[in-house]
Amino acid sequence: SDITSLTVSPSSSQMFEEDSVSLSCEEDDSSAGWTLRRNTTRDTRTQCGAGWGEPAGSSCTISFTATWDSGVYWCESREGATSNTINISVTGGPVILQSPVLPVMEGDDVSLHCKTKTPPSNLTAAFYKDGSLIRTEPTGHMTIHHVSRSDEGLYKCHIGSHGESPPSWITVTGKPTTTSPPTPPSTFATPSLPASLPASIPPSLPTLFLLLFSGVVLLVVVVLLVLLVRQCTQRKHKG
Ligand SMILES: *[C@@H]1O[C@H](CO)[C@@H](O)[C@H](O)[C@H]1NC(C)=O
Ligand SMILES: *[C@@H]1O[C@H](CO)[C@@H](O)[C@H](O)[C@H]1NC(C)=O
Repeated sequence: SDITSLTVSPSSSQMFEEDSVSLSCEEDDSSAGWTLRRNTTRDTRTQCGAGWGEPAGSSCTISFTATWDSGVYWCESREGATSNTINISVTGGPVILQSPVLPVMEGDDVSLHCKTKTPPSNLTAAFYKDGSLIRTEPTGHMTIHHVSRSDEGLYKCHIGSHGESPPSWITVTGKPTTTSPPTPPSTFATPSLPASLPASIPPSLPTLFLLLFSGVVLLVVVVLLVLLVRQCTQRKHKG
């Protein structure tokens, strides 16, 4: 199968330096041949094992991340088919924003966690979207209920005594519409109608003239017959 998705564990697109992260190409069937690749500011399209990460089957582990591991990651088949991409941001700073790595479905709840490198990690945090303050939460946790397309944007957080997280993009995708089965061909839905259905067809102009003409002819014939009969009876009376 061509369908492969890239997942990341722990599920966070931001991490601190020296954290460990594992990325997996998950396939429908187990046939190998997918490699994990990345673009960073240092390298382009380099695959796991070629200077970064330790490959293990269809997974790749970075045991001690560094800021230059920040970048975009994806799975690629030998034929060049690609999976979804994941942005990873490794910061040398004291604060990260844990946000969904994969696009969120419209209507779902989204949990954000503003976290410090050193404990305690649940301090009061301010959350920003596209540069504007949206909320301050005493424990550093924020939930956006029933997300809509308008919640899509660039999020970051700030913990007063520590500092700011890098920004992360949150993507909101539309709910997959429950596709109604295609309408069957009309021959199955309705029995085919007889070729001519006079009632449903409005009479054309020539037909109207023909009807009118035959009506007049009929009337003339009837009148002539009546006159003929009357003349005959009058002759009988005279005779
Ligand atoms: C990786 O970089 C290459 C070269 O700049 C570019 O063509 C490609 O689109 C990038 N891939 C992703 C997933 O950003
Ligand atoms: C990755 O980041 C770029 C720019 O920051 C953004 O345009 C893109 O949508 C992100 N991709 C994902 C899968 O979040």
